[in-house]
Amino acid sequence: MELEDIKTVGVAGGGTMGFGIALNFALGGYQTIVADVSDEAIEGTLRETRKSLDLFVEEELVTPDQATAALERITLTTDLDTLAEASDFVTEAIVERLPDKQELFSRLDERCPPHTILVSNTSGFVMSEIGKDVQRQDKIGLTHYFAPPHIVPGVEVAKGPGTSDETYELICGLMEKAGRIPIRLLKEKPGYLLNRIQGAAGREAARLWAEGMATAEDIELGVITTFGFRMPHEGPFMHYDLAGIWKWPADAGSKRSPDSEDEVAKKIRLRMAEKKPWFVDPEKFDEAIERRDREYIRRLKTLYR
Ligand SMILES: NC(=O)c1ccc[n+]([C@@H]2O[C@H](COP(=O)([O-])OP(=O)(O)OC[C@H]3O[C@@H](n4cnc5c(N)ncnc54)[C@H](O)[C@@H]3O)[C@@H](O)[C@H]2O)c1
Repeated sequence: MELEDIKTVGVAGGGTMGFGIALNFALGGYQTIVADVSDEAIEGTLRETRKSLDLFVEEELVTPDQATAALERITLTTDLDTLAEASDFVTEAIVERLPDKQELFSRLDERCPPHTILVSNTSGFVMSEIGKDVQRQDKIGLTHYFAPPHIVPGVEVAKGPGTSDETYELICGLMEKAGRIPIRLLKEKPGYLLNRIQGAAGREAARLWAEGMATAEDIELGVITTFGFRMPHEGPFMHYDLAGIWKWPADAGSKRSPDSEDEVAKKIRLRMAEKKPWFVDPEKFDEAIERRDREYIRRLKTLYR
């Protein structure tokens, strides 16, 4: 299958994530079918879709005509088979319960045409579990969106154990065509990548709160006004570059790298000992700093002045 052959997409589960994933595809020009378990659920999907489109129009992200066209591309149903039979690509966004996801994948595998790609938006399970009974092992994968999925651009994309390179590239291509930014994961691991990073910060915040280090309000305020403020410009590696940490003498700073002797710890220590930035050209360091500062000043004016 080529990217152009994907014309109709299905989304199983029209809740918090499913409605937004469907809306993203519909805005990207795809005929989109959403299936949920009850009329009540479907009505909720439609209500949230309309509300989001109104906001998109109000904020001039799309024109009223584009919003109307997107809504017209969305079909809602309580019949999963209708979705399965018509879809070239299906995203599963149902409740985070492994047996439910496994059952749904098996049913989709039975009812979808042979070329259809099946992906899950699971937050934590891996494809080798979710798709373990599926025949089309080469055509399954993970697309992990971040709420609200019709607005946040990055989507983690991972393979299952048998996913073909062709399927993987099609999934990444489809994300791009729908205006998302695929984040390519090189292996599967429970919790995948970004929830683990986000979870590490969340766990530490909860621990520091429980230890009485600061109030929840101040922890929140601290994150938003310090490294959270910088985040749209830099993640942990770019921060290492732009803060000039790579230029520090070897005996400066508090110890951050792990003590243990395992292979992962060794790899981190070796990389840090190289004392070189990840992304920034040392010759162009001053330029990068000026670019950063300009962006920060603009953000400062927008958010705090
Ligand atoms: N909420 C988030 O921030 C977030 C972010 C990333 C990933 N996820 C993942 O996305 C998935 C959905 O989460 P959510 O927050 O949208 O949940 P939700 O409860 O809002 O929506 C789930 C929807 O799936 C429907 N459903 C349940 N079983 C179904 C079935 N067999 N067939 C069709 N529909 C079915 C429910 O009726 C409900 O409308 C979960 O796997 C979750 O871990 C959630």
